Amino acid sequence: MTLRAPSHIYLDHAATTPLDPAVFEAMRPYLWSRPGNPSSVHAAGRRAREAVDTAREQVASVLGCKPGELVFTSGGTESDNLAVIGLAEAEAGRGRHVVTTAIEHHAVLFAARALQARGFEVTELPVDQDGRVDPGDLVAALRTDTVLVSIGLANNEVGTIQDLSSLAQLAREAGACVHTDAVQAAGQLDINVDQLGVDLLSLSAHKLYGPKGVGALFVREGVRVERRAFGGAQERDRRAGTENVPGIVGLGEAVKRAECDRERRSAHMHSLSSALIERVTAQCPQTRVTGDPQRRLSAFASFAFPDIDAESLLIRLDLEGVAVSTGAACSSGSLEPSHVIQALGLPERFRQGSLRCTVGRSTTSDEIARAGDAIVRHVRALRDVAAPPAGVA
Ligand SMILES: Cc1ncc(COP(=O)(O)O)c(C=O)c1O
Repeated sequence: MTLRAPSHIYLDHAATTPLDPAVFEAMRPYLWSRPGNPSSVHAAGRRAREAVDTAREQVASVLGCKPGELVFTSGGTESDNLAVIGLAEAEAGRGRHVVTTAIEHHAVLFAARALQARGFEVTELPVDQDGRVDPGDLVAALRTDTVLVSIGLANNEVGTIQDLSSLAQLAREAGACVHTDAVQAAGQLDINVDQLGVDLLSLSAHKLYGPKGVGALFVREGVRVERRAFGGAQERDRRAGTENVPGIVGLGEAVKRAECDRERRSAHMHSLSSALIERVTAQCPQTRVTGDPQRRLSAFASFAFPDIDAESLLIRLDLEGVAVSTGAACSSGSLEPSHVIQALGLPERFRQGSLRCTVGRSTTSDEIARAGDAIVRHVRALRDVAAPPAGVA
């Protein structure tokens, strides 16, 4: 029996991307014929260490940092947790105030809320209806005891890109360290840490056509993070545990490949997502397109439909072989509008109807046309169910 994915049109690349076969080829020896532990001194161990070092250089060259400023982790969640909790704990003697935004991924938001239980104060900045942070709100929130400002470079539900370098400058002028979650932005935007002006930056391989379960945290030299795991002295004593060698090799290769040709790929994705937006809004004119119209990740076409339950829309589309998402994949299963949709302050009628479509490298114009027509058809059908035409019981 062959297993067949039920979805023929995959428009959920923000949830995860397929593994690039070239990335898999780079990983293969370390899954199979090269079993060394990088901490072992024998030849097999040294080979594994070299592979990890090569990956570290690949990631460092894209971030414009030193290889030693990177900590390999189990993914975006661990990187965010280590950045937020690790930095706050390390700097607790200097201050106990952390600033973040209401639209961060839960890996940041819940880490910040965990700090509250440990006696820290956390300010969650609001955003405007397009998901932008107002620099004035940041300035008003900054205090002499603010040790960390964590603002995502691009949002994972609506794709809004923040003017991070300006926000980071304000935060650093006030003496705070700056962390950014670049999990969604990586591969679509420049993530040079000096240009962004950040002290910590999180990455995850599986959003970049790499493997799941591996990521990295950039920690600027001189910035301290308290360890979250206890054990061996791996990753310069910042993250205990035997390195996930095949995963790290995959991350290095994926980051390198994502950077090469990034702008051309981004332009291609932008034309596809724009075509989808146009197709849907032309036929369903009441639709709101969520996210900043000018500064949005090129892969994103996110909508809010009035008087519709997006979960029903998602199921109908899935039955037709179109994979999309409502709100964040990580929080699906809950019928509450996501915290991001709530923070955008959409009118009540639109809150249950948010749909995220994210295109990828292999998405075609034909798929966009078919998916767009399917969305329109099901939105109309669901609206008729919600408000049947006169005379229909
Ligand atoms: C913005 C953002 N941060 C963090 C994460 C978590 O990353 P991971 O799945 O690698 O733990 C995600 C995943 O959806 C994300 O979109």
